[in-house]
Amino acid sequence: MSGAHEEFGRMARKLGLGRRTGRIPATQPPPAAVTCGVPEGGPYPSSAGAGRRPDRPVASRALSERTRGALAESLPEVGAAIGEITRGFYASLFREHPELLNRMFNRGNQATGEQQDAIASALIGFASLLAYRPYIRPEDVLNRIAHKHASVGVVPGQYKVVERHLLGAMSEVLGSGMSSRVEAAWREVYWIMADTLMAREEQLYVSARAEPVPAWRHWRVVRRTEEAHHVRSFWLQPADGAPPPPFLPGQYVTVAVELPDGALQLRQYSLTSAPGDSLWRITVRRVQGTSRPPGEVSSFLHERIGLGDILAVSPPYGEVVLDDSTSPLLFASYGIGLTPFVSMLRHLVDTGSPRLVTVVHNDRCVGDHPLRFEVEDCVRTLGGRLLVGYEDRSGCPSGSYPGPVDLASLTLPHTTRAYLCGPVPFLRAARLSVIRAGVTPSSLRYEVFGPDMWQAPS
Ligand SMILES: Cc1cc2nc3c(=O)[nH]c(=O)nc-3n(C[C@H](O)[C@H](O)[C@H](O)COP(=O)(O)OP(=O)(O)OC[C@H]3O[C@@H](n4cnc5c(N)ncnc54)[C@H](O)[C@@H]3O)c2cc1C
Ligand code: HEM
Repeated sequence: MSGAHEEFGRMARKLGLGRRTGRIPATQPPPAAVTCGVPEGGPYPSSAGAGRRPDRPVASRALSERTRGALAESLPEVGAAIGEITRGFYASLFREHPELLNRMFNRGNQATGEQQDAIASALIGFASLLAYRPYIRPEDVLNRIAHKHASVGVVPGQYKVVERHLLGAMSEVLGSGMSSRVEAAWREVYWIMADTLMAREEQLYVSARAEPVPAWRHWRVVRRTEEAHHVRSFWLQPADGAPPPPFLPGQYVTVAVELPDGALQLRQYSLTSAPGDSLWRITVRRVQGTSRPPGEVSSFLHERIGLGDILAVSPPYGEVVLDDSTSPLLFASYGIGLTPFVSMLRHLVDTGSPRLVTVVHNDRCVGDHPLRFEVEDCVRTLGGRLLVGYEDRSGCPSGSYPGPVDLASLTLPHTTRAYLCGPVPFLRAARLSVIRAGVTPSSLRYEVFGPDMWQAPS
């Protein structure tokens, strides 16, 4: 996470984002088995616009003084209404393009409101940077979104569609507050973001050899292993027999599954294999339904996908990857957030790395702790330090901590590169603790298993 990224979050929070209330009805778990149903190449409908970058001039990356003034004036009002605006935006987008909800967007994130919050904080945070911190480069804060977009196959023509619905929702909510000057300023902000995202996405597609649209490949499940309570790994081999493409430790893939109600749902899973392995592995925690509906895709994978089945999988994406310095490393995770670090640890072992490694993992109980023995083996081979804390002490192995390990109490060299992954409350607390333990904020990276709620209000 860069300083620019932190500044981005601070600005979004300072301006205050509107509260969310909108929900769509719960969806039920799939009643019947469908293995893949996704053609290789791309599962997307073309009606929402695809193909090349829209035919319009590329916005200048810096705002004029006049536009900056209009933006700064309108930010408090837009900030206060942004929740309503993003809800209105998605409602109108999906009304006109229901296929986007059924074949591209994550309908769980729509139902919980998390995606609305993520885009709201992105818009306000970004506009605030342009208004008040024009020296920060847009590409520094948009990289994560570009990777997510590439992993789900966003294409340039869709930016026009999104612009229309977003600015339409803004104008509807703000009414007379949306003067033509304010509208022009926000349109300019939108296209600075869109152009930056499209340019980065194009680079990502080219480097994944996925041009002009994302290359979905079919992968066969050749092994399935139980890693903890409700956590299962799927070992994947390209169905065409070709070798798996390269990836960087820490990257994720998007898995597309067609559910029995016909909806195509996409979810990201970190690769838990090492780049040198002959198979790819993803490790999936099944999201249980307690007070909320069970997770659609994780349940489908656990219940329906077995040996020999075919999954449609994107190329690898994600910018939270193991750095190639020689600095000491700290990996701190909670629950299933361990997965990207397993790939990093396995890679360090495979390459005989001499780096100093500290792994801290917190979990609810020992039975929930995924890939426990594998991580222990890696840390032992690397001569590293492993600290594990369980909230529920029953059956805990000796040496583990009662409750979460206090990251602030660690002694860490000031050159440490820290990687964090887990639920947002864990990330917020862990970030403060590792900084107290001596890690500089610019040496800190985090992965969130959902829309980037790190930036959104807690
Ligand atoms: C970069 C990245 C890497 C990831 N890596 C991993 C990984 O390695 N392993 C892993 O297990 N996961 C990983 N994830 C998370 C994964 O992508 C999925 O989010 C997760 O599997 C849950 O998906 P699902 O379809 O089962 O749940 P969803 O159906 O998406 O549900 C998600 C939540 O929304 C709630 N919800 C759904 N509908 C409603 C409704 N109508 N009303 C109220 N609540 C509702 C559900 O109860 C659930 O709590 C990663 C995510 C990202 C972004
Ligand atoms: C300037 C324009 C846009 C902005 C600012 C934006 C912002 C975002 C943000 C903040 C996220 C969450 C990223 C994360 O996980 O951290 C996201 C995800 C996503 N965006 Fe965009 N986006 C834009 C344009 C588009 C377009 C044109 C499309 C195509 C229709 C699109 C489709 C998606 C999808 C499918 C996801 C994943 C949603 C999910 O998994 O819930 N976005 N975007």
